[in-house]
This record gives sequence, structure tokens and C-alpha cells, in this order.
Amino acid sequence: MAEIITKPRGTQDIINQDKKYFDYITDKLRYYFNLYSVDMVDIPSFEETKLFVRSVGESTDIVNKEMFNLQVKNEHEQSLRPEFTAGIIRMLIENKLYASPDLPLKLGYFGSIFRYERPQKGRFREIHQGGVEFLDNKLSLQTIVECISLFYFCAKAIMRSDNLYISINHIGSEKTRETWKNELKKYFKKNISNMCVDCQRRLEQNPLRILDCKVKNDIEIANKAPTVDKYLSTEEKDEFENILKQLDNLNIKYVKDPKLVRGLDYYTGVVFELYEKNGDVSLALGGGGKYQNLTKDLNGPEMEGIGFSYGLDRLCINLSQQVKAEIIKEYSNDFYIYSFNKSDKGLLKVNLLSNYIQENGYSTYVCQFDKGMSGALKQATRKNSKYILFVNEDLSLELKNSTTREQEKIDEISFKKNLSERKY
Ligand code: HAM
Repeated sequence: MAEIITKPRGTQDIINQDKKYFDYITDKLRYYFNLYSVDMVDIPSFEETKLFVRSVGESTDIVNKEMFNLQVKNEHEQSLRPEFTAGIIRMLIENKLYASPDLPLKLGYFGSIFRYERPQKGRFREIHQGGVEFLDNKLSLQTIVECISLFYFCAKAIMRSDNLYISINHIGSEKTRETWKNELKKYFKKNISNMCVDCQRRLEQNPLRILDCKVKNDIEIANKAPTVDKYLSTEEKDEFENILKQLDNLNIKYVKDPKLVRGLDYYTGVVFELYEKNGDVSLALGGGGKYQNLTKDLNGPEMEGIGFSYGLDRLCINLSQQVKAEIIKEYSNDFYIYSFNKSDKGLLKVNLLSNYIQENGYSTYVCQFDKGMSGALKQATRKNSKYILFVNEDLSLELKNSTTREQEKIDEISFKKNLSERKY
């Protein structure tokens, strides 16, 4: 038999109802990002590999094990983006956006990222992300809180759920982390002979990354490691407390987690992840944090950032059945048009009506002329059409409401008036 080519492991064809859920999520994100005056940007899907090595970090699993490196003739090494933040900062520097008089910048984005992970439920190799980066010379408490507030409330609106909460931690400045890293090194050195080869490498490269290890025995050892809170300066502790106070004021649900470190090297200060109560704690719906040095480290000016990305695939998986049913309804066809008059005059009428309906912002689905009535009604049900508009033999109109099942004659003038007054 001829070979049927299938999609690569860890990728998805997003079709049928799933595409509607995705569209709903991106529409809601766009809407919420706009409410917070976020400017949308697009950046390349691949960049020079060294961008990710220098930002996400050489010792991270993302750079070390999960990058899709491209073979490009006579060019510097290039990789598919494993995340957005590094590319956004590269763009900021290259286009001198930092010189804007309107700081903080709020830059939003959507698109695919690529990580060579072991595919399983909620874990893909092509991942759909949407996120925002807030950038300023020095981030104010207000901006930090605005970022976390957008992260939480936008997700709450998408999921239509009161069960979301943020897991939050403060991982200190680079200086604080050096002290912490030394303590981690001392602790892990005692246990390293029982740990995996990756952890043995991490101990030398960056002991903090041992905390990302997914090997069961290593997790148990890592769980007993010293946490960063003991090494935070008074200033850092105060900053964290002030952020939490503001979150309390805004009724943002959070849980302090001193073990949360995030798997990317650029973070300093507050870091956070989003979860759903009773959901899988290994599958965050989104994550983010503050990064003070990334712009400078990429040879740009001193500029601080805080941002987050959602995993749209995971948001989609976690939508409840009830919300999914609501989405199907909201994203369904408005008017299904069926004509009994199969002449040219009937065709003209149907086309004119369909155009008029669309101009008023409603969607239409015109039944093919050769379809019989019962097939047409079944199709209208499959399309979840809210109304069925019948064009009779004499070109008069009847309108059936699919929910109430009421059907009535309606003259064209009243129908058009109702459309323009958005009564449907
Ligand atoms: P991240 O935590 O690596 O952060 O990814 C953000 C979200 O993407 C995760 O919380 C998860 O929902 C989703 N995600 C990541 N990997 C996978 C996967 N293999 N399969 C399915 N979903 C996945 C970042 O990417 C940072 N750039 C976020 C950020 C922006 N920090 C500051 N600004």
C-alpha cells in the first residue's frame, strides 16, 4: 500500500471544533490585550542560535536538549524559537524601541514555539503561545502588578473559571542567586552520586537547573534543597510583600511557592505560573516573571522587563465541557439560507439577502440549490445555525429560530430593519 504521510510527533492538526476553541482563545486574548493597551508585534520564527544560548541559558533543558537547530548553508547557526522573550528583546534592541517616549512598552504576541520534548498529554513539540512583555528603564510596582493582573484576569475570562490561581515566588537578584547557588552546590554535592547524569552536569554548569529535573528520585532530593527565600535581601523581601499586597487588593488568587524557579535563566525577582485547582500540577497553563538584565546581557541598554506567555494548547485542553458548548454556540453560523425557488430569480434573491446579512455583521451559510429540504435541515443543525431563513417559491421570507423552533413569515423590510438594529 502507498505510504500515507502523517504529521510529525508532538504536532497537531487543529481542525473542526478544536479550531473554534483556539479561535475563541486568541480572540479573547486580543480583546484583553487591547484593554490593557498592549501593542501587538510579530517576530521571526527562527533566530540565530546564540540568541537563545545567551538568554534562555546554556545550562537549561530548553537550550541543551530541546532546541530545533536548523541546518542552513553558509549561515550562522540558527534555531526555531523555543520561546518568545529572547526574540522580543532582540527586536527591541535592533529597532531601538527602547528609545520610545512612551514607557513602559507593552508588546504582545502570538505564534508557535518549538521544543523537542517527549510528547504526552499537554506536552507538544510545536506549542502555541500568546504573551506580553512589559519593558521600562526601571519597572514600577504598578507595572509589575499590571502584568500579573493581565496574566490572571485574561485567563480567568478565557476559562470562565473561578478555579485559577497563580503560584508565585521571588528568586532575587543575580547577587542573591549567587549565594543561593553556592548553598545549592554544597547541598547537591552530598547527594550527586545518586543523581542522574544530567544533574551531574548541571551541578557544574548551574546547580539551580537541578531543580527542573523530572527524574523521580532527583525530585525527592531537590525537594529538600535550601529554598531561595532564606537568602533574599530586605529590599527583595519588601518588594515581594508589596506585590502580594497589591494582588490581595485585586482579589487575585495566589499561592506562595518558594520552590518555584522556572526553567529559563534570565529571570530575576518575581516569577509566577498559572494553574487550575484540581488540575495537573506538572502542566502550567502559563508562566512568566521579571528579568532585569536580559536587555543589557544582549548588549542593549539597561532596561527591565516582566512578561508572561500562556500555552494556548493547555488552555484549550482545560476548557470545561460547558464552556466548550458555549463556544460552539457563540461561534456557530447565524443564518442558514434555504430557497424553495430554484430559478435565477431565487438565486439572485438569496445572494442579495446573504450579502445584506453579512454587511450587518452576521454570518450566513447558503444551502446548495440541489439539496432537498430534509437534508438541508440536518445540515443547518450540524452547522449549529441560530436561524434558518426560507426563501419561498414566491420569494417571500420565513424565519425559523433554531432554539425556540418558532417559525414565522417576515416581510423583507422588517427583516432588514431588525438586522440593522442587531436584534438577532
Ligand atoms: P514557559 O514556562 O517555558 O515560559 O512557557 C510558557 C507556557 O507555555 C507554559 O506555562 C505552558 O503552558 C506552555 N508550554 C511550554 N512548553 C510546552 C509544551 N512542551 N507543551 C505544551 N505547552 C507548553 C516561557 O516560554 C517564557 N518565555 C514566558 C515569559 C514571557 N517569561 C517572561 N516573559
